[in-house]
Amino acid sequence: MTHELTASRLASASSNATASGGWWRDAVIYQVYVRSFADSDGDGFGDLRGVRERLPHLARLGVDAVWLTPFYVSPQADGGYDVADYRAVDPLFGDLSDADALVDSAHALGLRVIVDVVPNHTSEQHPWFREALAGVPGARDLYHFRPGRGPGGAEPPNDWKSVFGGPAWSRTPDGEWYLHLFAPEQPDLNWEHPEVAEEFASVLRFWLDLGIDGFRVDVAHGMVKAPGLPDIGHGAQATLIGTEPLPFFDQDGVHEILRSWRRLLDSYEGPRIGVAEAWAPTSERLALYVRPDELHQAFNFRFLNCPWDPAAMRKVIDESLAATSSVGAPTTWVLSNHDVVRHVTRYGGGERGLARARAAALLMLALPGSAYVYQGEELGLPEVLDLPDSVRQDPAFARGEGQDGLRDGCRVPIPWSGGEAPYDFGDGGSWLPQPADWGGLSVAAQTGDPHSTLELYRAALELRRALPGLGAPDAGPPTWLSAPKDVLLFTRPGFACTLNTRPAVLELPSPGRPVLSSSPVETDGRTVRLPPDSCTWWAL
Ligand code: NOJ
Repeated sequence: MTHELTASRLASASSNATASGGWWRDAVIYQVYVRSFADSDGDGFGDLRGVRERLPHLARLGVDAVWLTPFYVSPQADGGYDVADYRAVDPLFGDLSDADALVDSAHALGLRVIVDVVPNHTSEQHPWFREALAGVPGARDLYHFRPGRGPGGAEPPNDWKSVFGGPAWSRTPDGEWYLHLFAPEQPDLNWEHPEVAEEFASVLRFWLDLGIDGFRVDVAHGMVKAPGLPDIGHGAQATLIGTEPLPFFDQDGVHEILRSWRRLLDSYEGPRIGVAEAWAPTSERLALYVRPDELHQAFNFRFLNCPWDPAAMRKVIDESLAATSSVGAPTTWVLSNHDVVRHVTRYGGGERGLARARAAALLMLALPGSAYVYQGEELGLPEVLDLPDSVRQDPAFARGEGQDGLRDGCRVPIPWSGGEAPYDFGDGGSWLPQPADWGGLSVAAQTGDPHSTLELYRAALELRRALPGLGAPDAGPPTWLSAPKDVLLFTRPGFACTLNTRPAVLELPSPGRPVLSSSPVETDGRTVRLPPDSCTWWAL
């Protein structure tokens, strides 16, 4: 079951980057959170057939690739990031033939397909962990089992805390403890054990043979733990974001694993790519994941975490580009994903949050490198903040701390058309309730409206393909020009970009001919009035 990339669009897509070594170097990659994208069978959960039916939306949007979040067999204790069978599709999402057909249809439309791989932990329902609990000899060696401390071994073996809150250890009925950096249903694998590496190489081959174009590697920075699993000393939370070195994240040993995966990816016709979800304390540490013999890209969460402050943005942009270019890799730009509050809301919500989100999208798409678009951001969706506790499924919420229980609000199924929920997401409701006022945000409602966020994204992606230099990492970094306080102004070959972060109109000499703006600009050819919280692209 292999698939050829047939569409001529693939040949023209990312042409600048392809010429210098790979479609992925300036690709715009769209994240599909499968359970919330499109429901084909009316059970309220999105599925692979739903994704396949909606692929034309992505082709029309103009993205280069689709990243699918985990659709493997899973008890869904963490939205599928708890995998019980890495080679099979969960019945909730379809079956293997649906995955095969989806890859085929995507390729026919000129879209590459990236799938998630979850190597840091399995589900507690994975056969290996079941054997470990059942006491099968040697099975516990595949995980991190330890006796407890204190009288009767009643205390966890060390002071590590889970990302989702509470201790990173749970006790089995026979008294031993096992490590889970995330939920107790997600026991961490022991990557020192050769069988673990062998199994994952085989899993990667399974999906590569099916024709996928790459992997997004979940918790790529977490697979190796410091020898002896030492205490941190002050019981720190295993936060994903942080600057403090931690004995369970960003250990040098992960790079050996990633190198072996790169060799595997390179053994396929491609290029097939690997994208690291790695939360590293600095841009320099992150760049280590994208050295020439490691993965192709790493998510640049520093951009996502950057406040609406031009100096901070410029610093992150410069440092990110410098760090990745030092190893010859493209930078990535990400504003939202399924783990963070949607950026319309992060930027203040309402009209202002939306204006900033639209401006940030144009800024991101003007920068050299690869950009990630999270489903629904092209519709300007806000975070849903008023979900009743009874519907929340994020394990962090149930554990009462960690990520503040906020990850359900960015996972609400997206509106396709119609005035009432489920807005054609499916015809059987939606696993999380959608707001009553999302009709105007649907794909159908925004299509053809020149002021809509959807048409802004479509226009931006079309221009990104048409304007040589935009996006291409090899065309060099932005050249910053002097600009009034609160404004960023940079040029790229044949192109300029302005970002006005002030909540007020700002006048400056026109940098060129406006070709796209997140809010209407007024210019007489010499002077331009930049709207509040706006980004404008200029042809030079
Ligand atoms: C990162 C994923 O994006 C997140 O959703 C998940 O909870 C953790 N990794 C654990 O797999």
